[in-house]
Amino acid sequence: MFEKVQNIVDNFDPNERVVVFPGDCLDLLRNCPDETFGLIVTSPPYNIGKEYEKRLKLDKYIAQQAEVIQECVRCLSQRGSICWQVGNYVDGGTIIPLDTMLYPVFTKLGLRMRNRIIWHFEHGLHCSKRFSGRYETIMWFTKSEKYFFNLDPVRIPQKYPGKKHFKGPKAGEYSCNPLGKNPGDLWIIPNVKSNHVEKTEHPCQFPVELIERLVLSMTKPEDWVFDPFLGSGTTVIAAVRHGRRGAGAEVVPKYVSLAEERIAAELAGTLRTRPMHKPVYDPIKAGNSLTIAPWKRPPKAVDVTQTMLLEKKNKRERYAAQ
Ligand SMILES: C[S@@+](CC[C@H](N)C(=O)[O-])C[C@H]1O[C@@H](n2cnc3c(N)ncnc32)[C@H](O)[C@@H]1O
Repeated sequence: MFEKVQNIVDNFDPNERVVVFPGDCLDLLRNCPDETFGLIVTSPPYNIGKEYEKRLKLDKYIAQQAEVIQECVRCLSQRGSICWQVGNYVDGGTIIPLDTMLYPVFTKLGLRMRNRIIWHFEHGLHCSKRFSGRYETIMWFTKSEKYFFNLDPVRIPQKYPGKKHFKGPKAGEYSCNPLGKNPGDLWIIPNVKSNHVEKTEHPCQFPVELIERLVLSMTKPEDWVFDPFLGSGTTVIAAVRHGRRGAGAEVVPKYVSLAEERIAAELAGTLRTRPMHKPVYDPIKAGNSLTIAPWKRPPKAVDVTQTMLLEKKNKRERYAAQ
């Protein structure tokens, strides 16, 4: 399947398989025909002053996003899905959840929300005046009621696979789906910080496994997966990994090169990523010594054998003296 993908082209062509457009996403979207993409998944700039964004007044930011979203909806297939992944806009210590601001933009365009997925991770800024933020959301919308969705490739292991029906016509039969259970709408997936195997110089990469789950459940092989704010290329990587076609735009030249390099490595089978379904690292279970605070360590163990020998010697000496 992967041998067929040889080239990364820089403008949209329905006959190609991988597109990395070096420029503004609206310019790429204008070259894309109506109803082309099976899945559009992105994490837009959050307007928090990252190096690639100019901080805008919130209403201006929402208006800019609305323009991109409108074009995305035009290019989305009738059975397609849009997943818009966002966090908070922070203004002088006040947080404004961007999903609440963007939700009306999607619904005014006739889209229907299917899930608001909570993506929970453990690493990030430590706040001192509020609880530290440890989740972001993925808003999943579809264009119609007849949307494509396949749960089977993304099922996760059942908690009690051996459980059986205890009464009724199915008594004695296993009660759970042997393919696994629905992963639910709370996804615990490590974010890409310094020790993550996928970390590059991009400040806010998607972990590949997060997008793989969306690609596998919301598209079929050969469908187009599109990311208007491609960054380091993660969406296209997840798409081509599973035999889909991938396209995206990125304005910052160094990230365009980074995306191309990572996609080329994926096509060559050399890109290192964290595997889907790998359990989240638990330092206590792993026996990491740093999990025990030095001030809570028990005092050095007394050598019991030595103490017993000493006691015996003392007894002998006491009897000898009697
Ligand atoms: C939040 S990051 C996305 C990171 C991406 N999900 C990844 O896995 O690497 C947003 C990206 O959008 C890019 N960007 C900002 N405005 C853009 C625009 N108008 N068109 C295309 N890319 C844009 C930024 O340079 C940045 O790399």
